[in-house]
Amino acid sequence: MVDPLDAAAVDQRAFRDAASRFPTGISVVATTHNGVDHAMTVSAFTSVSLDPVLVLICVEKSARFHQAVLGTGSWAISVLPDDAEKVSRWFAEKGRPTERQLADHPYHRGPATAMPVLDVATAVLECRTRAVYDGGDHDILLGDVVGLWVDAAPHSPLVYFEGTYRQLR
Ligand SMILES: Cc1cc2nc3c(=O)[nH]c(=O)nc-3n(C[C@H](O)[C@H](O)[C@H](O)COP(=O)(O)O)c2cc1C
Repeated sequence: MVDPLDAAAVDQRAFRDAASRFPTGISVVATTHNGVDHAMTVSAFTSVSLDPVLVLICVEKSARFHQAVLGTGSWAISVLPDDAEKVSRWFAEKGRPTERQLADHPYHRGPATAMPVLDVATAVLECRTRAVYDGGDHDILLGDVVGLWVDAAPHSPLVYFEGTYRQLR
């Protein structure tokens, strides 16, 4: 029996398995740094506070997006519908070309931040970084929500559960 207080005894694989039992939605977070658009698939997006309106994302320190978003301080979350699995796979692909990575994915500029927003999104949250907290191999970015858009039409979300894309239907 593993002592639950002994963090060193927690196996990373077991941790991933346990965490994967928690279903999440999938979003693409995007920023523009030095004139280059950069977008990345995230599951670690959470609403935090209503007053003020705050959200957080967890960004792996080794991701190229990390440097880009810390450099610019603004980002936009595009929440994906269940028919956007290919979109999620593309923005999660390691080593995809940085330049023109959005070329095959229609997008526009968010009115509040001018950050890239995917046309396929069911909802958009435009954010400005309020604080960055160390989270081990990730940083936790807390952001003020400065712009919002929600599609009036109902959509089923893209869901990630046990390492597989799922649909709610
Ligand atoms: C379903 C899924 C969810 C992911 N969620 C996150 C996340 O919340 N934070 C993160 O830093 N990376 C996450 N990733 C990994 C990044 O999308 C991936 O490392 C990406 O290639 C990073 O791109 P970049 O190095 O060009 O910035 C996720 C990947 C997948 C497939």
